[in-house]
Amino acid sequence: MTKIINGKEFAQKVRALVAKEIEISGLKPGLTVVLVGNDPASEVYVRNKDAAAKEVGINAQTIKLPAEISQAELLTKIDALNKDKKVHGILVQLPLPKHIDEKAVINAISPDKDVDGFHVINAGRAVTGQDALVPCTPLGCIMLLKDALGDLTGLNAVVIGRSNIVGKPMANLLLNENCTVTIAHSKTKDLPKVCAQADILVAAVGKPKMVKANWVKEGAVVIDVGINRGPDGKLCGDVDFEDVSPKTKAITPVPGGVGPMTIACLLKNTLEAAKRLEK
Ligand code: GUN
Repeated sequence: MTKIINGKEFAQKVRALVAKEIEISGLKPGLTVVLVGNDPASEVYVRNKDAAAKEVGINAQTIKLPAEISQAELLTKIDALNKDKKVHGILVQLPLPKHIDEKAVINAISPDKDVDGFHVINAGRAVTGQDALVPCTPLGCIMLLKDALGDLTGLNAVVIGRSNIVGKPMANLLLNENCTVTIAHSKTKDLPKVCAQADILVAAVGKPKMVKANWVKEGAVVIDVGINRGPDGKLCGDVDFEDVSPKTKAITPVPGGVGPMTIACLLKNTLEAAKRLEK
């Protein structure tokens, strides 16, 4: 029997735990979300993050800046947030307008406040096994995997996608769980065959319904990070759910799988940042 992983329900539990810990700790974690421009998808994401943070007792604020803002002005804003003692987490929503260098902006955020875990220092800490803030989506995926499988030691994990936001940190977290990890990508030879070796298959490519049943080993656990608009206009993942799910031990749906975990982990990271900064 295939288990459909309920990410929405699991995320709710994580959010409740964060809320409880904030309540009993007496901490007042502060999160500032920075939105540059008015990309409609980014506006929705930012609104959801802000609302979710407030719901668990995080002191959240959103700073909206015009698309024409210069990089220097944006860096000045970030510097002020770095110095603000009430702000424990800073998140700059991506993508940024083309005239702004994303890497420069991300690396201007204090690593201790980098609740996205994108700063080069956090990436380096994570890879070398030091305390780090870890990107929210991969963190959410690992939590779902451990809930579905328990110990991941020795399992073959294949991650499709090598982005800095999902693929690379995901592979690193799986390695930390003692998986044998393969990172596959658009240049991988015979991708279906590589994927069919996986006990754990994580798809993070952004291609609607790319992963088919013949790519998946019987009894594998499949985590679908994709959020795409299919030809029918409906939301769908990188995995062809109807085709693949009968073969799997467990699989995340889209929507309602990984997506809700990303926000829950942002709240967790904000609490974590506040705990470390106030220690
Ligand atoms: N844009 C798409 N995903 C993300 C994310 O996880 N964090 C930020 N800051 N921007 C994004």
